[in-house]
Amino acid sequence: MAIKQTKMKITSICCIGAGYVGGPTMAVIALKCPHIKVNVVDINELKINLWNNNNLNKIPVYEPGLKKIIKKTRNKNLFFSTDIKKAVNQSQMIFVAVNTPTKTYGEGKGMAADLTFVEKCAKTIGEYSYSDKIVVEKSTLPVRTAEKIKEILELNANPGVSFEVLSNPEFLAEGTAIKDLFKSDRVLVGSDQTESGLLAAQSLVKIYENWIPKNKILTTNVWSSELTKLASNAMLAQRISSINSLSAICEKTGADIEEVSNAIGYDKRIGKDFLKSSVGFGGSCFQKDILNLVYLSRHYGLTEVADFWHQVIKINDYQKNRFTRCIINELNGTIKSKKISVLGWAFKKDTNDSRESASIYVTDNLLNEGAEVYIYDPKVSKERIIDDLKNIWEAKKISEVDIKSKLIRLKIVDNYEDCFKKASCISILTEWDEFKKYEWKSLIPKMENQHIIIDGRNILSKNKMDKLTKKYISIGR
Ligand code: NAD
Ligand code: UDX
Repeated sequence: MAIKQTKMKITSICCIGAGYVGGPTMAVIALKCPHIKVNVVDINELKINLWNNNNLNKIPVYEPGLKKIIKKTRNKNLFFSTDIKKAVNQSQMIFVAVNTPTKTYGEGKGMAADLTFVEKCAKTIGEYSYSDKIVVEKSTLPVRTAEKIKEILELNANPGVSFEVLSNPEFLAEGTAIKDLFKSDRVLVGSDQTESGLLAAQSLVKIYENWIPKNKILTTNVWSSELTKLASNAMLAQRISSINSLSAICEKTGADIEEVSNAIGYDKRIGKDFLKSSVGFGGSCFQKDILNLVYLSRHYGLTEVADFWHQVIKINDYQKNRFTRCIINELNGTIKSKKISVLGWAFKKDTNDSRESASIYVTDNLLNEGAEVYIYDPKVSKERIIDDLKNIWEAKKISEVDIKSKLIRLKIVDNYEDCFKKASCISILTEWDEFKKYEWKSLIPKMENQHIIIDGRNILSKNKMDKLTKKYISIGR
């Protein structure tokens, strides 16, 4: 059923999902399009209350620049609420920005994207739409999901109501979300190549044209747009695994990964970005989206293609495990009852998000080896850190007794100096700027004799640290 429209004039939009994508993207649309009313809705009442909190330090997403935009737009043309039905009913265009995690059950477990939340949204939109709507996929989805969404919409549609489904994947990176949204490298809009599909795409293009130059707004068919999102993340993650695989060669040969990466990046065809060697990539997107791509490839019988992309994840796991092994080796093969501190829990700097952060896996490994682990992060809450660990313990089906024994050996501290007192090793897992500014000279003597600092982000100066500590170890140097 195509929309019987000429061109829909958009004055009211809503976004289902008030998370790391829904919140910042809608805040920016509200700022750049004061003529459009923007409703952001979510089933999570607590989250919505936080978005509405008068204290802007309490909003649930930490992103540089976000508070300022919320202050300018909230309750003017940007609204946060749990009333999904009303928001759907009032909007001409509905963005779906709900989570699409890796499936933890059934067919495709551990690989495919779980589309339960997206399907629920499609059903709700179908049921509560009393006029034609443009539905926009903002969530990252497997190729051909638009087809499924359309089916659900039509199955639940009220008489005479029609839908167009567009794909408009989000390319923002956390920590730089506002900057990325203000000056996007490109905006991608995929639509059916029918008259009404192309018109719907133009309605969305018109919104972006309020601040994005026309030549950066690309239009494609829906399937290309859906695949482009998975492909972009796969290509980015692949660069990190490539450089990390080279970091292992550097450690064996005496080459320095920072020098190698810098020199590689001078080639214009390769470019300098995304060649930073690290303890391994984290975040809610890379692993999930690559697994999704691998699953899709296998589904179509493309075994070699699936294996190729799967290797990106395998190298990432290898890098995280290598890091823990290095800590154990440096401490004479055992870390039992030794104090090891983890600086940084977020998966990268300038975000309070810790999904799939390397620190979760490294900490779990350290606890498995009997260490006492101290954790400090400037933005991630204690509750979140505990939840992250409990989630992986639950997935591994660890017994209550084991969990208790691990929790006793875990200390999450507000003051980073507590990480140094009598620590056998300090490990840096996030590249927070404040870590670079620490008075390392006065902090290191507080540690146990060995003074081992393991820098999983290569943020400290090797020359300087070599002078200050007995052992400064970094990645690929
Ligand atoms: P998130 O978990 O931060 O937010 C998703 C929100 O959707 C949650 O608040 C949840 O309560 C809500 N939700 C789930 N089901 C709902 C329903 N039926 N009705 C109303 N609300 C519902 O997730 P996110 O990081 O914002 O990611 C959202 C999507 O965007 C994912 O598909 C992700 O892959 C994609 N994406 C994320 C990023 C990123 O940097 N986080 C970047 C690009 C794309
Ligand atoms: C990523 C994509 O960059 C973004 O376009 C997409 O919309 C969502 O997924 P995000 O995961 O938020 O964004 O952050 P990103 O900057 O890509 O970093 C991901 C992980 O890779 C982090 O753990 C980061 O520390 C790590 N990383 C990044 C490296 O280890 N080395 C690098 O050179 C770059």
